[in-house]
Amino acid sequence: MLEKRTADTTHALASDPSEEAGTGSISPVSPLTREFSGSGSLSGLEVVPLEADRMEEAADLEQRCYPHPWSRALVRGEFQKDISARFGAILDTRLVAYCFTYIIPEEMHILNLAVAPECRGHGIARRVLCHSLVSGIHRGVRSVSLEVRPSNKSAISLYASLGFKRVAVRLNYYRDNGEDALLLERKLSLQDLSSLKKRC
Ligand SMILES: CC(C)(COP(=O)(O)OP(=O)(O)OC[C@H]1O[C@@H](n2cnc3c(N)ncnc32)[C@H](O)[C@@H]1OP(=O)(O)O)[C@@H](O)C(=O)NCCC(=O)NCCS
Repeated sequence: MLEKRTADTTHALASDPSEEAGTGSISPVSPLTREFSGSGSLSGLEVVPLEADRMEEAADLEQRCYPHPWSRALVRGEFQKDISARFGAILDTRLVAYCFTYIIPEEMHILNLAVAPECRGHGIARRVLCHSLVSGIHRGVRSVSLEVRPSNKSAISLYASLGFKRVAVRLNYYRDNGEDALLLERKLSLQDLSSLKKRC
């Protein structure tokens, strides 16, 4: 089992991820009122591998994105791990989103996906996630998984839109409030490349 993380609206972790209770499909939620309050064009947005020179910026962004963020040390630690694969979205030289994953042979686990609050609702999360998936496929990944809070409707809708299915429920997974986690999975193959690339 991959190392667990602490925090988020989705991402504080439980003590034991082994409990599972039920499977099923997930469906997109109705669009909610979007919270975008930024201005300017996103046409210059670029998704790139997230290197260590952006480590402190990523730690700053983490603090802004979650009510229970990863500590700065935890964010820094992700940049040191061999199994870590990270992408970030840069807008006007500023990091506005990131996706942290682990890749072990043929499997990817999404640890953290976050977009700056003022930039949400413009497809940035989908682009960063699709970059991560495309990169994973090129590295031999054939299955991708993640945990998400049932209350995180926007994230669930995003993952559903990219073909993730619920495969289990991890009971009392999140330490901060005891919320369960939905374990979502998606298979990947070379045939997925062209549709994912179109969404990058
Ligand atoms: C969840 C999050 C990453 C989405 O980022 P985003 O850039 O706003 O998402 P996108 O604009 O790429 O939206 C892609 C899809 O997600 C879903 N979505 C995103 N925001 C939504 C909202 N407020 N309501 C409903 N669906 C939403 C939709 O399916 C959307 O597709 P559509 O635009 O075709 O309707 C962002 O809200 C965030 O950073 N939240 C805090 C951190 C977090 O919870 N991360 C997820 C951890 S599992």
